[in-house]
Amino acid sequence: MGDTLGMATQLAGNAVRFGWYSGLNWLLSRESRRLAPRPRYVPQGPVPSEAELMADLRALFLADAAAVRDGLYPPEEPAGSLVRHLSDVRAMFADLPATLERRQSEDTLSAVLHAGATDVPDYYAQDFHFQTGGYLSSESARLYDVQVETLFYGAASAMRRAGLKPIAAFLRGRDQRACALLDVACGTGRFLRDIRLAYPGMALTGLDLSQAYLDEAQRHLKPLRPATLLNANAEAMPLPDESQDIVPSVFLFHELPGAVRRHVTAEIARVLKPGGLFVFIDSLQMRDRPRWDGLIEAFPVRFHEPYFAHYATDDLETIFAEAGLEAEDTSLAFLSKVMARRKA
Ligand SMILES: C[S@@+](CC[C@H](N)C(=O)[O-])C[C@H]1O[C@@H](n2cnc3c(N)ncnc32)[C@H](O)[C@@H]1O
Repeated sequence: MGDTLGMATQLAGNAVRFGWYSGLNWLLSRESRRLAPRPRYVPQGPVPSEAELMADLRALFLADAAAVRDGLYPPEEPAGSLVRHLSDVRAMFADLPATLERRQSEDTLSAVLHAGATDVPDYYAQDFHFQTGGYLSSESARLYDVQVETLFYGAASAMRRAGLKPIAAFLRGRDQRACALLDVACGTGRFLRDIRLAYPGMALTGLDLSQAYLDEAQRHLKPLRPATLLNANAEAMPLPDESQDIVPSVFLFHELPGAVRRHVTAEIARVLKPGGLFVFIDSLQMRDRPRWDGLIEAFPVRFHEPYFAHYATDDLETIFAEAGLEAEDTSLAFLSKVMARRKA
């Protein structure tokens, strides 16, 4: 029968999140149109109807709840207080005029002015999504989660949790206490928190180029058992060869130039043990869902995503295979896809 109460809790949590963030999405879009009206971009490719989008979102939430029922992971436990959340929402709306001004003047360089910009590669020191300070400021780290959940109608956490299924399959029959997991580009640590809730005994490491985001990750992990957090470039990870059993990476690859995508994949393969698991989660690519290609085309027009168009047509299968990561499973989940690969 499984954990039906847990399933109900997970479904109810997702339903509340969907209602709340859809409201915020609507308000933010309305405010954006009022402050900075501009013609709507009409993509050449087809876009899904709202009913199709919602059907996929429902399927994601149902799969998330079913995984809880089947004992693959526990129900989500919200991090942080309601007061802090409301204050973040307020800050997101307060930041909107500056964001829109940058979008209108196509200014994507507030990150370059940040003190930390000299220590990071040029491709990184820019205002992804027109965020104030790019990934370098603590304001951006504070707003990131609420912005991403608003963009995805409250489904971002469930999209990440789709990556817990291949991890559960990999760990079946293994002792989690003897396993090491590295989340590459862990950002504010949302996925690390889900992993920690499911695997209290596993050695967890999160790596990210932004110290501000790692500070948020540390906050989100409390009061759970901490993870080791490394401020480093995923192109040259300060970790020994063959030291990790599992390496997930969520929403990173679309933000990397093509050549860097290949370097990072090689690094992931280097630190994985033979037989180790790589779990990739990122946006759908062109032709994954041909009737949705217009959405993929429109995304980098709305948001500053300088490498997204290249990502959308890049050959991930070949990149992974050439790094020695063999195909295990690929599945689509709402606007994202999950690819599980094993190091040969
Ligand atoms: C879209 S966010 C995703 C964060 C997180 N994985 C999530 O699920 O929300 C991209 C993250 O990649 C990090 N990042 C980008 N390029 C990187 C690099 N070369 N090395 C390490 N981290 C990088 C950024 O700092 C940011 O935290």
